[in-house]
Formats: sequence, C-alpha cells, structure tokens
Amino acid sequence: MSQWTLPPPPLLLLWACVLTGTHAALVHSRDSALQDTDAGIHGLKKRSLGEVKVDVQSVTMNCKVASRFAHTVMTSKAINRANTSQEVFFDVELPKTAFITNFSMEIEGVTYVGQVKEKEKAKKQYEQAVSRGQTAGLVRASGRKMEKFSVSVNVAAQSDVTFVLTYEELLQRRLGEYELMIRVKPKQLVHKFEIVADIYEPQGIASLDAHGTFLTNDLLPLVEKTVSDNKAHVSFSPTLEQQRTCPDCEGTLIDGDFFIKYDVKRDKDVGDIQIVNGYFVHFFAPSDLPRVPKNVVFVIDVSYSMEGAKIKQTREALQTILDDIHSNDYFNLVLFDHYVEFWKPSLTQATVENVAEAQKFVSGLRARGATDINQAVLKATELLYQDKKNKTLPDNSVSMIILLTDGDPTSGITDQKQIQENVHNAIQGNVTLFCLGFGYSLDYTFLDVMAQQNNGLARRIYEDSDAALQLKGFYSEVASPLLSEVHMQYQDNTVDSLTQSHFKQLFNGSEIVVAGRLTDNDLDNFLFEISAQGVNDIHLQGEASAQKWDVLFPHEEYIFGDFTERLWAYLTIQQLLNKRGSGTAEEKSNATSEALALSLKYSFVTPLTSMVVTKPQRDEEPEDMFIADKLTEAQRGRPSYTGYYSSPSYSPITSVDGDPHFIIEVPDRNDTLCFNIDDTPGTIFNLVRDPVSGIVVNGQTIGDKKLQPGSKVHTYFGRFGIAHEKRGLRVEVSTQNIVVSREGMKTILSWAETRTFRTLGMELQVTKDRSLTITMKDSAKFVVILHRVWKKHPYHQDFLGFYTLDSHLLSHRTHGLLGQFYHGLQLVVGDLHEGQNADKPDATMKIKGVEINVTRGWQRDYRQDVKYGEGVPCWFIHNNGTGLIDGTHHDYVVSGIFKTS
Ligand SMILES: *[C@@H]1O[C@H](CO)[C@@H](O)[C@H](O)[C@H]1NC(C)=O
Ligand SMILES: *[C@@H]1O[C@H](CO)[C@@H](O)[C@H](O)[C@H]1NC(C)=O
Ligand SMILES: *[C@@H]1O[C@H](CO)[C@@H](O)[C@H](O)[C@H]1NC(C)=O
Ligand SMILES: *[C@@H]1O[C@H](CO)[C@@H](O)[C@H](O)[C@H]1NC(C)=O
Ligand SMILES: *[C@@H]1O[C@H](CO)[C@@H](O)[C@H](O)[C@H]1NC(C)=O
Ligand SMILES: *[C@@H]1O[C@H](CO)[C@@H](O)[C@H](O)[C@H]1NC(C)=O
Ligand SMILES: *[C@@H]1O[C@H](CO)[C@@H](O)[C@H](O)[C@H]1NC(C)=O
Ligand SMILES: *[C@@H]1O[C@H](CO)[C@@H](O)[C@H](O)[C@H]1NC(C)=O
Repeated sequence: MSQWTLPPPPLLLLWACVLTGTHAALVHSRDSALQDTDAGIHGLKKRSLGEVKVDVQSVTMNCKVASRFAHTVMTSKAINRANTSQEVFFDVELPKTAFITNFSMEIEGVTYVGQVKEKEKAKKQYEQAVSRGQTAGLVRASGRKMEKFSVSVNVAAQSDVTFVLTYEELLQRRLGEYELMIRVKPKQLVHKFEIVADIYEPQGIASLDAHGTFLTNDLLPLVEKTVSDNKAHVSFSPTLEQQRTCPDCEGTLIDGDFFIKYDVKRDKDVGDIQIVNGYFVHFFAPSDLPRVPKNVVFVIDVSYSMEGAKIKQTREALQTILDDIHSNDYFNLVLFDHYVEFWKPSLTQATVENVAEAQKFVSGLRARGATDINQAVLKATELLYQDKKNKTLPDNSVSMIILLTDGDPTSGITDQKQIQENVHNAIQGNVTLFCLGFGYSLDYTFLDVMAQQNNGLARRIYEDSDAALQLKGFYSEVASPLLSEVHMQYQDNTVDSLTQSHFKQLFNGSEIVVAGRLTDNDLDNFLFEISAQGVNDIHLQGEASAQKWDVLFPHEEYIFGDFTERLWAYLTIQQLLNKRGSGTAEEKSNATSEALALSLKYSFVTPLTSMVVTKPQRDEEPEDMFIADKLTEAQRGRPSYTGYYSSPSYSPITSVDGDPHFIIEVPDRNDTLCFNIDDTPGTIFNLVRDPVSGIVVNGQTIGDKKLQPGSKVHTYFGRFGIAHEKRGLRVEVSTQNIVVSREGMKTILSWAETRTFRTLGMELQVTKDRSLTITMKDSAKFVVILHRVWKKHPYHQDFLGFYTLDSHLLSHRTHGLLGQFYHGLQLVVGDLHEGQNADKPDATMKIKGVEINVTRGWQRDYRQDVKYGEGVPCWFIHNNGTGLIDGTHHDYVVSGIFKTS
C-alpha cells in the first residue's frame, strides 16, 4: 500500500467531472476512506484488523530538473501478504501546476499503461464502462497547491503491485527562488523509502536549500545535499527504523512536505538561452536593476460578505502592506460595496505621514452593502488617469490596480461580460489589473479573465487563518516592478511557434520565460533583442548558440534529452488554455483545438484530456476503468462545499412541507438550508408577518391518524391562514377546501375543480387536487400544495405544503419562521467533515456571529412533482432550527389561524 503525494506551486487538478449522479454512488461504494485526504491507508487499516496484511515495500520519488523543468516519477510497490485478495490504494498528491504524463500499474508481472485521450472521448468510454457495471477511480483537488490522484486495485493473495506515476511542470521563480515540493504521506513504515532529486541548471546554482515540514532533529541529518556549480543532488532515504515515531512504534514520522528551494546565478544581462533538439528556451531575469516607482490603487470589497474574519484579515494585510510600501510609490485606497469611497481624491506619495494616515483609515474598515465591481474598478482607473493627466505622478512609473473581492458582482452592472468589456475599454492597456479572489463564494474565472485581459493575473486567497499572509505574499511579488513593456524579439525566419514574448511587467524575484522552435533543425545559433522600459530603458542584443549536450555531458543522468521541447509544449498549452478566456469565438476554439492537439501529442493530462487506465479483470470481477482528469481553477473553485453568502438583494425561496420540513433556498449560491420543527400536533406557527403591508401567514400542524408503532410522532401542516389585514381579506386553506372571507362574505373554493378566483388585489388559482397559487397584487406570491394520501392509509392523512414564490415587495420588517429569511441571509458553510453517517458529511455554519453544526441532507421539493417531489440537497440545521431562526420555535407559536400573537 502506498500513499503519498507531491507538490509545488499552483495550478492543476485532476478529475472530478465524472462525479455526478450515479457515478458518485460508485465512488462511495469503493470505500468511504477515499473521501478524505487521509484516504488510502485508512481503508486498509480497517481491513487489516483481521490477519490481512499489505506490506509497502517501497516508495520512491525521483525528480530530475533540467533548467527549471521538473520531471518526477513516483513509484510504489506493495505486496498483499494475506491469503485472500484485497484492495490496495495508491493516493498521490501532486502540484496543481503539474501535468500528469504517464501512469502504469504492474500486477503479477503484467503492466497496464494509461493512455491520454481527449476528455470527451474518455468520458464517453467511461460512461459506457459504468453502464456495463464497471467501477472507476478518480482524482480530485487537495488543498491549495496540490491535487490528488487516487487509484485502487484488487490484488490477489500473496501478489504484488507496482504503481508508477510521472508528472512534469515548469518551476516558476517567485520572490527570488524556485521551489520543488514533494508531499509524502506513506501512512505506514516503508521498507525502502527514498526521495532523490537531481537538478541541472546551466546558469549555475546560486543557493539551494532542502527541508521538510516533518524533519525532526534526528531525520534532518539524513538529508544529503551536494551542490557543484551547475548541478545539485539531494537525497533523503531513512531506514524503516529511522521512520518510526519511537522505537517499537508502528507510526511513521514521514508525513508532510519536502521542499527543495533554489536560485540560479544570473549574471548575463541578456539572460540564458538553451537550444536542444530544435527547441529553445530563454530565461530572462537580469540582476541589479533599480526598481521603478509604482502607482497602486487598492480596490477593496467591503460588502457584507466580507464581514468577520475576511475584513479583519484584509485590515491586517493592508497594515503590513502599507508598512512596506516604498516611499517613492504613490497609492490610494478605494473601498466599494454598492457605492465607491475614496480614501483621498488622488493618489498620494507613500511618505511616513501619509502611510500612517492610510493605516488609520484602514483600521476603520467595516463590511456593509452589496458588490459593485464595475463601478469600483472604473473609478480607480479614472483616478489614475486624472493624476497622470495632472502630472502628479512620477514620470517613469508603472500603474496598477489591485482588486480584492470575495463575491460576484451583485450591484450596479452585474453582467460579467459587460464588466469585463467596460474595464478593458477603460484600461486600454495603460494599467495592470491584479484580482485577488477571497474564498470560494465567487466566480473565479470572471476575475481570472478580467485580470488577463488587462495584463495582470488573478490569485485565489484561501479563507483561512493565514489569509493576511497570503495577501501580503501576493503584494510582495508585485511590490517591485523592474521593467515594463518587455519585448523579446528573435531573428526573423530562424524561430517560430514562439510562446508569449511581450510582457507588460517584470517584477523583482520573478523571471520571464520564452520558448520556441527553430525553423531549421541544423541551425545552431540565432540573434535576439530585448527592449524594455525601466528607470533606464534597456535595449539588449545577444546571440544564442546550441550546445552539444551529449558531448558536453556524455553520461549526464541529470538531463532528459527533450526537455526544451516538453517545456515549450507545457508553456504553450498553459498559454493557450488561458487564451480561451477571452477573444472571439473563433480564437477560443482555435486555442482549444491547438491545446488539445499538443496535450495529446505530448501526453499531458490537461483540462482538455483525461488519462484512461483499464484495470485488469480478476476472477469473476469485471474490469475497472479509471480516468484521471485535470480541473481548471474555476472547476476546483467550490470543492465539495465550502461556503457561500447570500446578499440582501436576493430573496431566498422559502417553504415548508412534509413533516414540517422548512426549506430555505439560497438561489444565488444554488444551495439550500433546511430544518424541522417537532412539536405537538395542533400548534399554530406564524410563518410570515409583514407589519407594513399587513400580510400574515400562519400554519397549523396536524399529526398522523394513528401513531405508527415504534415511530416518533410526525406532524404536518394541515391548515394555513393567509391574511391581507389592510384589505380585510382572509384565506383559510385546509385539506378539505379553501375559504375566502371579505367583509363578512365567504366564498368557498373546492380542491376538486381547477379555477381562478379574483377579489380585491388578490388572485387565487386552484389546480384541481394539486395546488393553490395566491398572488397578492404588489406584494407577494405563494403556493400551497395539497398532498393527498391514500384514503385507507393506516397512519397518514392529507396534508399541505407552503412555498413562497415571490416576496420581494414585502417590507424589511417582515418576520416569521419563513419571513425572516426574505431579506436574505448571511452565512458561511465551511469545515466539511465526516458526520455520524458516512453519506452525510457535517459542516460548520457561521451565522449571526455563532457557529452551528449542520449536516448535509436531503429534502423534498414538491412544486414540480406533487406526488414524489424532487430531492433537494440541503444543509440541515439540528434542534428545531436553533441558531438559524431568531429566538426559539416557541416564539412563533400563535393562538389562532389569523392571529399574530
Ligand atoms: C488463511 O489464513 C488464515 C490465518 O492465517 C488461516 O486460518 C486460513 O486457513 C487461511 N485460509 C486459507 C484458504 O488458506
Ligand atoms: C509510461 O510508462 C510505461 C511503464 O512504466 C513505459 O513503458 C512507457 O514508456 C511510459 N511512456 C512514456 C511516454 O514515457
Ligand atoms: C491609454 O492607452 C491608449 C492606447 O494604448 C492611449 O491612447 C491613451 O491615451 C491612454 N490613456 C491614458 C490616460 O494614458
Ligand atoms: C486633477 O484634475 C482634475 C480634473 O481633471 C481636477 O478636478 C482635480 O482637482 C485635479 N487634482 C489635483 C490634485 O490637482
Ligand atoms: C483558426 O484556425 C483556422 C484554421 O487553422 C485559421 O484559418 C484561422 O485563421 C484561425 N483563426 C484565428 C482567429 O486565429
Ligand atoms: C445548480 O445546481 C443544479 C443541480 O445541481 C445544476 O444543474 C445547476 O447547473 C446549478 N446552477 C448553477 C448556477 O450553478
Ligand atoms: C459541533 O460538533 C462538534 C463535534 O461533533 C462539537 O465538538 C461542537 O461542540 C459542536 N458545536 C456546536 C456549536 O454545537
Ligand atoms: C424540538 O422542540 C420540541 C418541542 O418543544 C421538543 O420536544 C424537542 O425536544 C425539540 N427537539 C430538539 C432536537 O431540540
């Protein structure tokens, strides 16, 4: 058995798209252990309570890095020592930025190799497999930097299995270093455990550090490092005894992240070019350039959803960011909710006094209204333009906007395409826009595309205790612009298929990478030019020449021959995938087909491809199919469930039906809350009460005809009183009929007939034996559903359900068990964890300043299908809705069907 994971920076995720409907059930049935990160081995442990034993023989991670391009092979071998067959899991976490390029399993001497296929085709194949009763494996997101690959196979008694996973990625320079991260979680002692990394950097290695989050004082000396000029070798291979948490303990110390961080020497101004097998790569990050002053406008979302930890962390982050802001820089703060507030009418220089004043302003940040992103960004742009025009900003400076938001636009212009267009038109390439998306309750793609359209980038800020550090970290990366308008030009007719070669900015600590193909394979040199603006504008020329790698490094195990070509393919695919966010439909479709063709050619699992592995048939079991996918950042955005928020501009759809199941839909988040109230039959509850319009809705519960032996008392709503007090209008709905009273006059409508009845500002529409829709002019729309139970049912009797369809014209003073939710509600669901029932995870919901435990459950919505209803997943609030509803359910009990107290 094996299980570990790997690591570095940001972007990829594998497979989850197939997890819908019946497929999800299949995944569950494999082993609930697969549900969490600690998966694999747990499953095994459970099974190994008996005599069962799976021995992990080896776990090895072998990384080769040639010029920042990392190629990692993870191998794990396990033996089933039991005398019965059993399932063995292989769980690996790998960096999101990596592409899986190969996977194989060797079982009883036979090797099964994964094939990379177009995602759509793979999915079809997968669906066919599922429809034939085969099962499937999966890969999913895991934490911030990682995604997880899991597969399990059934291994015969006394047999072994070897898994080999390969992935590749380009290490990005951030804050002056490259980071190779390997996540190791073997979960048990391993006979042979080994991490080996060989790094080859032609520019020479300037510094290198290797460490691990799990390295104790005893383990630390086992990390071996040798660095010689342009090569480094790092290894770590503790013996089984050394892995033990204590002598004779079965626990392992190996559990965490292993990092190698390094930087290269950078003396040549023109950067470094490597040409291998007809492809070249050019790295450009000159040292010793002076920083260019910047004009930065922080555009900060202070809408309601930021309330609590987020606004606090934003304040903290801004305080430290302001502490570090360079005194040559100009800055301003723009706060927005549904309206936009400037700290100062123009940008001001970051002098000690101004910074102190800004910090004071920041300490007063409070969350308030809705989210008008459009207006905020446009006004920030205007501000920069105005100051540019007034010539109050330094000449040779770069301008940027850093937008921080945690939600989708809900106020002003809310159409995302329109906002992108407006922003793009206003910025016209004059300002770089960075977008920081805080948490999961937002459409990350919207921000990502908008940032890219304006030469910037988007970053997700994880809603966690270190959010302030993440914000600060991002700021550090863009704090020191060195160059702008960097153009990398290569001699005409010598190269083609260039990756991006114009860069809006180069920041201190980062690096520009351009790759391309030589038009002529025999060509071994070409000329290039670099021009850029900085404190001093630069114009550089150079000549690149190919080296005979096999001659220079005859036995070089560090280098894998085609790395420049794979690096080129990797970069090209990344850039094509990004391009799909903007441009014309034709450009997007061209970018997609090109990216797909390259992914297939180079066998990369990207968001357009899937890896398909067919697990061998064993004995009477069917063969299994396994697909690994990679998700986009947007797809991995809202994992299984992380959090949401409903702004006051939405009215939730609320209802009560069944055994009083209260259902509160949160439409903008596509999710639902639910709770029950168990009380004695006959109790009348106030559901809605608007003192301004005079609308009241009460409901009275009924019980079962007869108590079902061994069951609790079920209650349902059997009667509703719906009144428009100002118009003197009352409607009493029971399972027998509908009685409308006005000024002493009564009209009785029967459930047995479809008809429409209108009276002073109210319309009642009866659908025979099914439903009653009540529309109150200028205020609200409700539906009452009639549930007819088989007349001879031994226990149950007919009952009613009540749904609010429209309440947006009711006043803000509306209250009641349902009415209190008409104004929207503010809550966050997070911290998903295993509940009592494996199929129903628990989570923590933060609402009204308190945290309550909620459970993922199902309720039935009967609006469409009166008979069976439609299953709606919801977050169930326990204890009669305590914590969600204001007060306790007793507070809503009234003395009569039209009474308000
Ligand atoms: C499997 O092993 C158990 C315990 O080692 C033993 O009792 C049992 O007889 C074995 N079964 C077979 C079929 O060999
Ligand atoms: C994938 O792995 C298999 C088995 O380890 C190997 O034979 C094959 O050459 C690999 N494919 C590539 C493209 O590296
Ligand atoms: C923004 O850029 C456009 C073209 O790129 C230019 O015409 C315009 O004057 C610039 N606006 C400002 C205010 O700098
Ligand atoms: C800058 O120019 C605008 C009009 O373009 C003017 O209203 C404003 O007062 C000026 N601000 C400063 C600080 O000069
Ligand atoms: C898209 O691809 C087609 C066929 O390769 C080409 O003719 C067309 O010019 C491309 N369109 C764009 C916008 O790049
Ligand atoms: C809401 O959820 C339903 C069912 O899960 C899905 O079909 C629909 O696309 C979702 N809508 C949005 C806007 O996410
Ligand atoms: C939620 O449940 C956990 C454990 O199940 C418990 O420790 C915690 O106190 C509960 N919190 C609340 C607010 O009930
Ligand atoms: C819900 O309220 C009823 C009536 O007050 C009470 O009997 C019951 O114990 C409550 N249930 C829970 C789980 O708190």
